[in-house]
Amino acid sequence: MRAVDLIAKKRDGGALTSAEIAWLITGYAAGNIPDYQMSAWAMAVVLRGMDDRETADLTMAMARSGDMLDLHGLVPLTVDKHSTGGVGDKTTLLLAPMVAAVGLPVAKMSGRGLGFSGGTIDKLESIPGLRTNLSAEEFRRAVRDVGLVVAAQSGDLAPADKKLYALRDVTATVESIPLIAASVMSKKLATGADCIVLDVKYGSGAFMHTLADARALARTMVAIGSHAGRRVSAVLSSMQQPLGFAIGNALEVREAIGALRGGGPADLVALCMTLGAQLVQLAGLRPDEDAARALLREVLDSGAAWATFTQMIANQGGDLAFVEDPSRLPAAPAQIDLPAPRSGYVATIDGQTLGLVCNALGGGRARIEDRIDPRVGLVLRAKVGDRVTEGSPLLTIHAASPADAQRVTPQLLTAYAIAAGSVIAPALIEEVVSA
Ligand code: URA
Repeated sequence: MRAVDLIAKKRDGGALTSAEIAWLITGYAAGNIPDYQMSAWAMAVVLRGMDDRETADLTMAMARSGDMLDLHGLVPLTVDKHSTGGVGDKTTLLLAPMVAAVGLPVAKMSGRGLGFSGGTIDKLESIPGLRTNLSAEEFRRAVRDVGLVVAAQSGDLAPADKKLYALRDVTATVESIPLIAASVMSKKLATGADCIVLDVKYGSGAFMHTLADARALARTMVAIGSHAGRRVSAVLSSMQQPLGFAIGNALEVREAIGALRGGGPADLVALCMTLGAQLVQLAGLRPDEDAARALLREVLDSGAAWATFTQMIANQGGDLAFVEDPSRLPAAPAQIDLPAPRSGYVATIDGQTLGLVCNALGGGRARIEDRIDPRVGLVLRAKVGDRVTEGSPLLTIHAASPADAQRVTPQLLTAYAIAAGSVIAPALIEEVVSA
């Protein structure tokens, strides 16, 4: 086979056979197919799509490109969560310890920033000393000893997705239902999770802009997971504005720590309750939603979730001094407010624009080899529905220099619509898609 022929076949709208997909993914993971051919193929998929059989084949080929973990010798069952990506989405940092604290071992492989959205691994790495590049053995040990691990993709686990994910980040090939579904589910299958909840986001700050596309993505992923024998459900959640207030790596860690210690923000906590309740029910720990929520509320209020988070950070080498006192986390030297151009009610906040600005400040990558700046980002001071007066801050820009902050100001203003009359904030949770 030749990669160029498979690229042409997809470019012309053909369906690749199972053998062709396996050959392409194995060859890419082994370094026999170069990035430039893989990017051309990924762009052909973005433009032409894949049918359900191709998407399932792609998922399995990426999952099997490395080890397939079976953790049942260590714990009876593991649970996992994955988001399809959104702006300000620090859900894992709160949800994973909550779920681990109720006694469900969390074995999670997370991603780095992707397109205009941040990634949990980049966020966690703003904690000095913290390691996310764990071997399969270290991953196993963390599940056994702590009951919670959040690791980056390694050479051992779904290495094909690791390479393709980094490539898609910088080649404008993120927004594709089959590529997202295969990327997410290959990681979930490779880490051996028995129960999986998917946070499928839609809206301006997500890769799926419409609810219909998010539903299609959710159904595709739930079907792949169920077919592989896993218990899966998906929550369709709104990204019609960023989640919480903070956008940017260290800023989001700080916000998540606040939430673990009982300080909100309300939308982040509400989303974690909904996702967590799904996992608690999938795992059979509680029979219904109310009982599952009560259990999660207990570990949040008692400090048990916070204690589990600190155990995970310590186990992965993170310096706890920075977590106990998050004001010590890397902070940007320039912090400058963006004033509201007129009085009224915040009607829309375009998450994609804010995510792109965060990247432009240094919070994301334009090329694979770029290093990110954990300090930079944005902190919202008003959310949709809030009343603002002319000159009051819409957000605070956290930048490496005042000049950087000034440079992004015009673009930031385009992210806002301010209405004269009152505005109702969009609902956070739309629906749950079950198998
Ligand atoms: N998360 C992933 O792991 N992959 C995607 O493609 C999008 C979100």
